[in-house]
Amino acid sequence: MLTATVTVDPAFVVGPVRPRTFGSFVEHLGRCVYTGIHDPGHPTADEDGFRGDVLDLVRELGVTTVRYPGGNFVSGYRWEDGIGPRGERPRRLDLAWHSTEPNLVGVDEFMRWAAKAGVEPMMAVNLGTRGVQEALDLLEYCNVPGGTRWSDERRKNGAEDPYRVKMWCLGNEMDGPWQIGHKTAHEYGRLATETARAMRMVDPGVELVVCGSSSSQMPTFGEWERVVLTEAYEHVDHVSAHAYYWEEDGDLASFLASAVDMDHFVESVAATADAVRAAGKHAKRISISFDEWNVWYQRRAESRPPSGDDWPVAPVLLEDRYNVADAVVVGSLLISLLRHTDRVHAASLAQLVNVIAPIMTEPGGRVWKQTIFHPFALTARHAHGEVLHVAVDAPVQGTAKFGEVPAVDAVATHDPETGDLTLLAVNRSTTDAVGLDVDLRGFPGLRVVEALTLSNPDHTWSATADDDASVAPRPNASATVADGRATAELPPVSWSVVRLARA
Ligand code: AHR
Repeated sequence: MLTATVTVDPAFVVGPVRPRTFGSFVEHLGRCVYTGIHDPGHPTADEDGFRGDVLDLVRELGVTTVRYPGGNFVSGYRWEDGIGPRGERPRRLDLAWHSTEPNLVGVDEFMRWAAKAGVEPMMAVNLGTRGVQEALDLLEYCNVPGGTRWSDERRKNGAEDPYRVKMWCLGNEMDGPWQIGHKTAHEYGRLATETARAMRMVDPGVELVVCGSSSSQMPTFGEWERVVLTEAYEHVDHVSAHAYYWEEDGDLASFLASAVDMDHFVESVAATADAVRAAGKHAKRISISFDEWNVWYQRRAESRPPSGDDWPVAPVLLEDRYNVADAVVVGSLLISLLRHTDRVHAASLAQLVNVIAPIMTEPGGRVWKQTIFHPFALTARHAHGEVLHVAVDAPVQGTAKFGEVPAVDAVATHDPETGDLTLLAVNRSTTDAVGLDVDLRGFPGLRVVEALTLSNPDHTWSATADDDASVAPRPNASATVADGRATAELPPVSWSVVRLARA
């Protein structure tokens, strides 16, 4: 069997495992909100109309932050439409997704949902059709304790205490010509700076995310970040990055190697931010909020919004069904995000429910897990302490997009308090099992506590509402420790977690 040698050392610390790496995203898009998290007629719905079975799975997924309310949606959104008595809220055209927004869920409902889910809310302001004043009004509504126009309105609506939202996105994908109120880098850089400056006057404690490019494939990628950060550097904390991957024309090998692109993307944005830092003689460093990432088959019919006179409420949109290979890629993208924990300080799996999502619902009916649920949940649960860089010497896998890449990619986390070590690894070979051989000399006395592998002889295997269990990771009986080395067999197209602890 082919072998990949992995060296781990407690001294190779990249940085802390950041809880915010395990964020997600709820957008008013398709059935993410309506019939997703919110379904008042459902047997498990609570007094706010939120599904209890969905909340249970959100907690099981281990999500830490949730970005809201968009996405493209936010660029035409009037947040005031979503507050106050539900019967008085307007219905509006949502131009981003050619849908009707009933405004039954707004900021107060979302904050209540986030508290129930145990997640940190991450809000986005509309810098497409709106500007500084409306962003300030929303911030006042959310974070000012009382005694002003909007804070008193919040109290009237039942929230005595401020929500104290820390993370705020300054618009969404403003470089994209599809964005309502799309701007040039100069226009956006100015607006984001002035919005940030004014928001900090209201609440100096906010953390602000300025929009980077909507993908590394944008013609303006790099230059957009340079221009926007040159303007906004001192006023913001993070720059956003968005990336979606999919298997194109049956090219499984390139698809499995998607993390090579994510690595390059993160390193390019960090390099651009550091160049602006040097040129502007700034002291602080800008970190990355990778606040949209996932597998998304954008060319499938499910991704096309309705058209013409049809403006449905909560249409079926972007409801991708994920297979085993998709889950392996999601697991490998998490490895990339963890590997860059020194620069990626927050990330959001896009999205959470029904829309390119780990959790699926039937309106009024069952809830079920997609394949991608598992690598996310297991990584969020078992990555603790510090991220360790691992040196991997692996056989190569040829790819059309990236040339030869190591068939095995891995990262480790180490909890210095308990001594626990977690290894996360993918085998990107499309054909061969690879033996993992881990040098554990720096960690004497460890034993395998649990080893789980997600794979299937048929990598196109997907979960359904009738059977979402058979794609779940299974115990990997080959994982053992002997003579200071951990070994395990990784099947082709697989993702694994190996947990080690002191004997
Ligand atoms: O997540 C789906 C969409 O992808 C978001 O609305 C947008 O920001 C991105 O282009």
